[in-house]
Amino acid sequence: MKDAMIDVPLVDADDCLRTEVARWYCEVFNDPRYFGESWTIESASHYLFDSGADDGDLETRLFAMQREGQVMGAAIACVGRVSCALTVRELPKQARNVEVLVKVRRQVEWFVPDDTVILVFRELGIVPAARNGLGNALNMIVPPIAWAEARGARFGCFWTSRVSPLYRLLHGYGIRDIFDFRDEQQAVFMGDDISTALYRLRQPLKKARRMLLERLGHERFSA
Ligand SMILES: CC(C)(COP(=O)(O)OP(=O)(O)OC[C@H]1O[C@@H](n2cnc3c(N)ncnc32)[C@H](O)[C@@H]1OP(=O)(O)O)[C@@H](O)C(=O)NCCC(=O)NCCS
Repeated sequence: MKDAMIDVPLVDADDCLRTEVARWYCEVFNDPRYFGESWTIESASHYLFDSGADDGDLETRLFAMQREGQVMGAAIACVGRVSCALTVRELPKQARNVEVLVKVRRQVEWFVPDDTVILVFRELGIVPAARNGLGNALNMIVPPIAWAEARGARFGCFWTSRVSPLYRLLHGYGIRDIFDFRDEQQAVFMGDDISTALYRLRQPLKKARRMLLERLGHERFSA
């Protein structure tokens, strides 16, 4: 059966979808190979749905890939001006303080003025059983960016860890490192102009694979 892609405002997710998304979150982020966190369905659901919701200046949207009703991949994206969309909530847990936020915003504002509408990826992941290389990864990355662009966003950003496959993948696509948290987790804030990033992310898979291979071939990643 073909996977189904859905997207809804985060606040409109019903109880059934919330539980499924929380289950996806536990499976992806409790995985000891990457983040090794210790979420439960209840704590993940509370974290994902009961805080950081939309207000007049911020829109949040959930994107999910479902297989027979189960969420296999998901992304949560936020759109708003820098001061609304980029808050301490969007930083790695160990860096959630105002001093770090000021530094990260300063780096974002090095690329775009502070009143620019930006996209912040809050969450993104695919359960191991649904990872198939570039195809599904791009299915989770491109629609939120296209949505954000349609909502007026010009710049997109997110944090990840240098040991995450997401870092390697998006580094290969030319997305920039814009702030290094200098922590044990090797957390880094990345970002790029949306229209140029979308241009590359929409290139045919065969070409993208070749480009990534050439770009990443000489890089060393600490996994
Ligand atoms: C991030 C995530 C969605 C990426 O999906 P994935 O299926 O694991 O993606 P991969 O690492 O296999 O890489 C995808 C493509 O990048 C390219 N690539 C990756 N590493 C490469 C390398 N060293 N050299 C050349 N190409 C490379 C390849 O083209 C590969 O696709 P292919 O195998 O079809 O050729 C998934 O790993 C995930 O959910 N991880 C856990 C959650 C997470 O880290 N989230 C982000 C943190 S906030």
